[in-house]
Amino acid sequence: MIRGERVRLRAIEKADLPAFVRWLNDPEIRQGISLNRPISLAEEEEWFADLLKKPQQERPLAIEIQPDPDKEEWAFVGNCGLFDIDWESRSAEIGIHIGEKKYWDQGFGTRVMRLVCKHAFGDLNLHRVWLRVFETNQRAIRAYEKAGFTQEGRFREGKHLDGKYVDVLIMSVLRPEWQEDQ
Ligand SMILES: CC(C)(COP(=O)(O)OP(=O)(O)OC[C@H]1O[C@@H](n2cnc3c(N)ncnc32)[C@H](O)[C@@H]1OP(=O)(O)O)[C@@H](O)C(=O)NCCC(=O)NCCS
Repeated sequence: MIRGERVRLRAIEKADLPAFVRWLNDPEIRQGISLNRPISLAEEEEWFADLLKKPQQERPLAIEIQPDPDKEEWAFVGNCGLFDIDWESRSAEIGIHIGEKKYWDQGFGTRVMRLVCKHAFGDLNLHRVWLRVFETNQRAIRAYEKAGFTQEGRFREGKHLDGKYVDVLIMSVLRPEWQEDQ
């Protein structure tokens, strides 16, 4: 378990898969990630089996949040993680998805991004964490900025989304500029 303030990250279990199927079939959630077709439980089970073959550091983690800071109750709400780690350049891409929409806009996405960065820089000794985000995903961009990421590039019309081309922004944070308590 990786612990932060009101957020914690644990390994994904098979029992989590039905929740992922529910979330990933929600068009509003799919808009932010690169999925434009419905997904089945069998496909998620295949994804889970493949996940166990990946290096441990590249396996996504389940996100749990503490909705009420005065109660010791935790809710499983999504997943996040590092992938395509380049150990020579000490760089990794980061991804996040919070499927329980009622918990959006309460700062949890920002906390999770900070916690994954803390793990990347502190435990894995990485130097750079970067991400891709559609320019239409303003909620995500705002959360990433609050977590310390800055925009460094743009793939113009790099994604076809809902009948339109949208730019894909590249954002990153480097270890020397990262502040844990930002
Ligand atoms: C992106 C995501 C992780 C953000 O999580 P979150 O818990 O909602 O994020 P936070 O609450 O920490 O931050 C969201 C910020 O965006 C702001 N926001 C929300 N809608 C906005 C909009 N349309 N325009 C601008 N800002 C917006 C919120 O007000 C908040 O900022 P504030 O704290 O300054 O008020 C979550 O919404 C999600 O998983 N979405 C679906 C999957 C996805 O898109 N993943 C990202 C792929 S790159």
